[in-house]
Amino acid sequence: MSIQRLGYMGFEVADVPAWRSFMTGKLGAMESSSSETEAKFRLDSRAWRLSVSKGHTDDYLFAGYEVDSEKGLQAVKESLEARGVAVKVEGPELTAKRGVLGLISCADPFGNRVEVYYGGTELFEQPFASPAGVSGFQTGDQGIGHYVLNVEDVDAALAFYTGALGFQLADIIDWKINEDLKVTVYFLYCNGRHHTFAFGKLPVPKKLHHFMLQAKEMDDVGLAYDKFDADRSIVMTLGRHTNDHMVSFYGATPSGFAVEYGWGARDVSAGWSVVRYDRISIWGHKFQAPA
Ligand SMILES: [Fe+2]
Repeated sequence: MSIQRLGYMGFEVADVPAWRSFMTGKLGAMESSSSETEAKFRLDSRAWRLSVSKGHTDDYLFAGYEVDSEKGLQAVKESLEARGVAVKVEGPELTAKRGVLGLISCADPFGNRVEVYYGGTELFEQPFASPAGVSGFQTGDQGIGHYVLNVEDVDAALAFYTGALGFQLADIIDWKINEDLKVTVYFLYCNGRHHTFAFGKLPVPKKLHHFMLQAKEMDDVGLAYDKFDADRSIVMTLGRHTNDHMVSFYGATPSGFAVEYGWGARDVSAGWSVVRYDRISIWGHKFQAPA
């Protein structure tokens, strides 16, 4: 039994108020709670999907992977422990804070916090309504999206995420960032979403390269693009990726790492065959220096 989908994510951010207006105004997420030190946001019927906590790193804080039952959680715990990973069973305080029935946590080989849970909170009685008019986000069985981490050791990352957590490799891209720099990025899936987690030894100062949200309509992407373009915070222009066929752009967040905002990805299905690519995009995705 492996993890089934990305259910939530947390970032540590220096400027919580800036993130509140960024999440709601630019990305179209719905704020569910906020204080001076933390804010949570909805993307669908769940009580929350993204959180920002005040701190100095402006980086990845945790990823929360969902399983469907207590039995599934126990199986992931045993899989981690069988590979020598120290697992903490979280108590009532954190499970209540996350709004879940059962929660374990561990660290990946680089000290990045990984949480696994079952029993998230549904709020069907308070329908999701995007404050920016976004038609909705592709979540459900595919989870909330994907994220890409900068790691020191790709072999250790592959061993942990495929071995202990049960991801499968979808493909790799030998990404020629410029004439002198080529980086191999590994794309992993745990459900129909082409990749939920990807990693590489990336030339960025942070652990988190970007996170991705998938909108339901292409117009959601276009309308968001105009907002990022208006304050010159586009990082990569509109383009379509070679591997997941996502049409997306990349924008700057208030913390320096990027957000990918996309639509129209293809899914992995039974019989998926691992391949490699020489380019990240079929067209577009040109770097642009933010203002
Ligand atoms: Fe991405």
